Amino acid sequence: MLSNARIAVLGAGKMGETLISSLLQAQVVDKKHLVATTKHGQRAEMLAEKYGIEATTDNRQAAVGADVLLLCVKPQVVLEVLSEIAESVDVGQLVVSVAASVTTKLIEDGLQKEVPVIRAMPNTPCLIRQGMTGLCAGRFANDEQLQRADFIFKQVGRTVCVDEKHMDAVTGLSASGPAFIYVVIESMAEGGVKAGLPRSVATELAAQAVLGAASMVLETGEHPALLKDAVTTPAGCTIDGLMELEEGGLRVTLIKTVFKATQRASELVESN
Ligand SMILES: NC(=O)c1ccc[n+]([C@@H]2O[C@H](COP(=O)([O-])OP(=O)(O)OC[C@H]3O[C@@H](n4cnc5c(N)ncnc54)[C@H](OP(=O)(O)O)[C@@H]3O)[C@@H](O)[C@H]2O)c1
Repeated sequence: MLSNARIAVLGAGKMGETLISSLLQAQVVDKKHLVATTKHGQRAEMLAEKYGIEATTDNRQAAVGADVLLLCVKPQVVLEVLSEIAESVDVGQLVVSVAASVTTKLIEDGLQKEVPVIRAMPNTPCLIRQGMTGLCAGRFANDEQLQRADFIFKQVGRTVCVDEKHMDAVTGLSASGPAFIYVVIESMAEGGVKAGLPRSVATELAAQAVLGAASMVLETGEHPALLKDAVTTPAGCTIDGLMELEEGGLRVTLIKTVFKATQRASELVESN
């Protein structure tokens, strides 16, 4: 889907570099078709050397002639970069932004033309290609362009396409989600430590239990409640554990956690 497409990664920090390295590793783009930009020349030099790609601090130069512009700068830098590149961008290019909370309309307005824009919300497990990315299309993007962006993020994990009105919920659930689950893993491991397990063993057991359970949900397609019931032997130990979990209010806490993070996601651009 990207064959011979020229890709410019504007703002090649953690997320930008992850996309560069994954696209190259998957061999879906040729290094001579990739250009990256950064704020600091030293980082651009490092990226050029590490990946054998062109890297620069000049966004406008990088944007010229690119088929896909991957906007990977921090949300508060987006408008500045858009004003730099606006003149050189045309409606035949595809802009894909990963900036949290930045709407497609804000990008379209910043470019002052009917450029197709896709907004993406990846998460940190993309770093190890186990990510989850929510994508939505702006007013001027068609299905084919959405699929092209989808293909890019499939190189770093799973993807889901949603209406833009759901992007804050994607942020609150899957972009913030790993942080919530780290707390769950840490706490389950503490339970193992309390029961006498060495901490490293307890952490491995907890993390693998979470990974295995998540894989069961994704691979069997079963409802999590049915999978939970299958583990819960009558008068066994799991039901005793579940009773403690319900008494502690984990279920309601997690619902409120995701909802609060979603609400905050909708405020981020205004507060930057
Ligand atoms: N990290 C994640 O897991 C994650 C998840 C979801 C969404 N995102 C989104 O991804 C975006 C980037 O996040 P990040 O964690 O990758 O941040 P980051 O590591 O700080 O990367 C930002 C990059 O932007 C570059 N930059 C700053 N100003 C620039 C400019 N005027 N022109 C060109 N490049 C410029 C910086 O260059 P220097 O390195 O030279 O300073 C840096 O490489 C954010 O909008 C964030 O909301 C990130």
